[in-house]
Amino acid sequence: MGCEMQDEVYHIPVLLNECIEALKIQEDGVYVDCTFGGGGHSRAILEKLGPGGRLVAFDQDADAKQNLPDDPRVLFVPHNFRHIGRFLRLHKCSGVHGILADLGVSSHQFDEAERGFSIRFDAALDMRMDKRTEITAASILQTYSEQQLHKLFEQYGEVTNSKTLARTIVENRGRMPMQTIQQFKAAIQGVVKGNPNKYLAQVFQALRIEVNDEMGALKEMLEQVPDLLLPGGRVAVITFHSLEDRLVKQFFKQGSFEEEEDHPFETREKSSLLKVITKKPLLPTAEEMKRNSRSRSAKLRVAERI
Ligand SMILES: C[S@@+](CC[C@H](N)C(=O)[O-])C[C@H]1O[C@@H](n2cnc3c(N)ncnc32)[C@H](O)[C@@H]1O
Repeated sequence: MGCEMQDEVYHIPVLLNECIEALKIQEDGVYVDCTFGGGGHSRAILEKLGPGGRLVAFDQDADAKQNLPDDPRVLFVPHNFRHIGRFLRLHKCSGVHGILADLGVSSHQFDEAERGFSIRFDAALDMRMDKRTEITAASILQTYSEQQLHKLFEQYGEVTNSKTLARTIVENRGRMPMQTIQQFKAAIQGVVKGNPNKYLAQVFQALRIEVNDEMGALKEMLEQVPDLLLPGGRVAVITFHSLEDRLVKQFFKQGSFEEEEDHPFETREKSSLLKVITKKPLLPTAEEMKRNSRSRSAKLRVAERI
């Protein structure tokens, strides 16, 4: 029953009220939803906007378009949010009142077998959110060096035996097919450690992050935020794993992605144009986590343009 319900719903918005409160929506403001998906956050923003307000919604996945409301206040941009500045300038809305990003994949993407995101199905190892791009999970497994694979499984998946996993992939890829989820699982079954579902979920997460260059896109978007927000405007970002959260936290605090420890003897001016609103990230309530298990790892950070 639970599964049937999930399949019908494109995506259940996470930390919805928290995001809307954080954005302090002004009736006539211009807002950007970087990750439209099922449109849950966008619809809540639109409810707060008056007839003069505007919402620019990005999604690089063409499937998201089916959820667009018939609303003249909405402009849909079917592209990667890493190009946020360029598209806002193109549509003559460079100064905006709020920017929201709810990172990662939607339940729809995860639950569509043929997209290749989930270990539950058998399909081509694709994992592209944007089908116009070329790199798929299968092509990464075929072309990356052992060192590159090791690094990506270690960094993006925190896979405990990432070195062994990378070696196994490189050893097996010449003699075993690795184009589908089941073929890949068979090729690495000898090195799966601990709970297989947890292990494979970490491996798949790492591949997904690499296929979609999720860290690169997040950094590029964040770097543009201070210039796009009007003074007093808010940015709210929901992350789902620690690497993303660390990037958002650092950028909000220091206006850069450099580790403070990189310059231990320098007292450097903090040059962030953002004021941190959430010293600690906001987390879903126990009730939300119970209602929507996919909200479990969500963290919301908010900052305001000075
Ligand atoms: C977690 S879902 C967002 C769900 C949405 N907030 C809702 O309430 O339905 C993330 C969505 O953002 C899109 N997305 C992820 N990264 C993106 C990027 N770099 N550029 C544009 N869209 C992206 C995905 O295709 C997906 O539809």
